[in-house]
Amino acid sequence: MPGSSRLPVSLRETFIARKSSARGQIVALNVDVLRNIVFVLFLLRWTRKLFYQLKGRGITGSIFDVYTSVRRTLYGVFLRLPGVRTKVQTQVAESLLKLERKLVPTGPGVERIITLPAEGWSEEQVRKALNDLEAMEHTRWEDGRVSGAVYHGGGELIKLQTEAFGKFTVSNPIHPDVFPGVRKMEAEIVAMVLSLFNAPEGAAGVTTSGGTESILMACLSARQKAFHERGVTEPEMILPETAHTAFRKAGEYFKIKVHLVACKAPQYKVHLPSVSRLINPNTVLLVGSAPNFPHGIIDDISGLSRLAHKKKLPLHVDCCLGSFIIPLLAKAGFEGEPFDFKLKGVTSISCDTHKYGFAPKGNSTVLYRSDDFRKYQYFISPDWSGGVYASPSIAGSRPGALIAGCWASLVRQGESGYIDACHKIVGTMKKIEGAIREKPELSSDLKIIGRPLVSVVAFLSTTLDIYDIADGMSEKGWHLNALQSPAAIHIAVTLPIVAAADKLIADLVEVTEEVRERERKRIAEGKGAKGAVKGDTAALYGVAGSLPNKSVVVDLAKGFLDTLYKV
Ligand SMILES: *Cc1c(COP(=O)(O)O)cnc(C)c1O
Ligand SMILES: *[C@@H]1O[C@H](CO)[C@@H](O)[C@H](O)[C@H]1NC(C)=O
Ligand SMILES: *[C@@H]1O[C@H](CO)[C@@H](O)[C@H](O)[C@H]1NC(C)=O
Repeated sequence: MPGSSRLPVSLRETFIARKSSARGQIVALNVDVLRNIVFVLFLLRWTRKLFYQLKGRGITGSIFDVYTSVRRTLYGVFLRLPGVRTKVQTQVAESLLKLERKLVPTGPGVERIITLPAEGWSEEQVRKALNDLEAMEHTRWEDGRVSGAVYHGGGELIKLQTEAFGKFTVSNPIHPDVFPGVRKMEAEIVAMVLSLFNAPEGAAGVTTSGGTESILMACLSARQKAFHERGVTEPEMILPETAHTAFRKAGEYFKIKVHLVACKAPQYKVHLPSVSRLINPNTVLLVGSAPNFPHGIIDDISGLSRLAHKKKLPLHVDCCLGSFIIPLLAKAGFEGEPFDFKLKGVTSISCDTHKYGFAPKGNSTVLYRSDDFRKYQYFISPDWSGGVYASPSIAGSRPGALIAGCWASLVRQGESGYIDACHKIVGTMKKIEGAIREKPELSSDLKIIGRPLVSVVAFLSTTLDIYDIADGMSEKGWHLNALQSPAAIHIAVTLPIVAAADKLIADLVEVTEEVRERERKRIAEGKGAKGAVKGDTAALYGVAGSLPNKSVVVDLAKGFLDTLYKV
């Protein structure tokens, strides 16, 4: 091909003019021009990327990003060194074996079913087996020993839900003509939740299988909207680092680049100026939590709303956890902060009916300011050989029974029922918070994170290993949540915990005293930090926290998932 050498254009022109026809000259010129254009575009693209990186993270931030990335890579290389690799693999295998022994029952007395029974069991047999499965040894959520996890509204409500299931076991909202009652209930659930969140005229929503699906849908809708209306092909979203990990899942599933913004002490709310700096033409969504999972803190939603409105960007507020508590704080007489559609920048909200709505598990809603947003999460296939197909969210067939269970819970509780629950739950959170702040046995070593206003209270320690306290509580039969960066634990108050709060506080005092005593002894005996005997939580998070490259933790977590499917 002429013109593939790197001669200056003018020189090459004379050269070509002499040697080839006029036609060849034009082709050569075109190839040259084209190459220059491609090069300039390439340069522009990278300059633009660099510019937005520097604008978003600043020079020190960018240097820090490079530093962590290099450190991670180097540590990754270290982990792959022959000696290190086998050692790490053995330790991972050992931990997983320990886990398997704990989760998967074995031994002569255990019957395992790995093929279909040749003849079906008798009803009696099935009932007995179900009873045994229900009674397997477990952390006692029934006695309020578990943080979060079981959000139920009392035995009576559970009975009513079970009745509702029974009536709608075979129903599927994908066939609204066959199950008109299910369609009606589903539409009413969305309407009720919309009104709870002060939705304006024209607002719309859908039900989903859980908070994660609600969040996935909101992110998908924002991505599709930006693609169709603004031609954004490399979407990015900006999250508080404390936002639920479902947003990171959305980033991975839908190829949306995720920017995390620090939520620093003492407020632990997302840092607004950092969010603002990270906004660029590829931004498709801003996110805030009300409240977040780790610390139970409500981000500055008013500030985010102003920013989103000014920049004409969608803002999603994650109220999955806040669900039916945060909208009723004021009516229950507690202090709150603005978080819902009353703020004009808020364009979507996720609310879990299966958390403090007390609906059966597998139920959530995602709400949009208008159908302009909702339509982008729909999937429609007009030319499938199976017929014209349309579905609102990820699932195809869906259990109508769950919709009935959810509907029954909402209308049975009513506003007064949820206000009452809000009283008990937030009241208990404040009781635990008060104890940690005011009881000298606790306040000397434990510190509350930020100012919690809803149902979660998180605390850390600068003097003791907080994970030792988590392990101590586990030994006493409690299941609290371990958090990382910073190391902390949290308690998500549910109705079963309300009744157990005094015992919880008493046990926390005892465990803190024990850990303090053990520390004192260890130091007196002149043993270093390595001399301490560690429980499971302390061992996992103590190591994980200090690793620059978390591939070992990834291996452990993968092994954990595999273990779940062992019989
Ligand atoms: C629970 C929760 C979610 C969603 O979780 P699911 O388990 O999928 O229902 C999202 N955000 C927050 C803050 C949560 O606590
Ligand atoms: C972390 O370490 C693993 C294992 O050595 C390696 O495969 C991975 O690429 C590393 N991660 C990064 C970001 O360098
Ligand atoms: C409840 O969960 C089912 C199953 O995922 C889903 O199809 C339905 O839309 C949900 N309904 C409500 C009200 O959350």
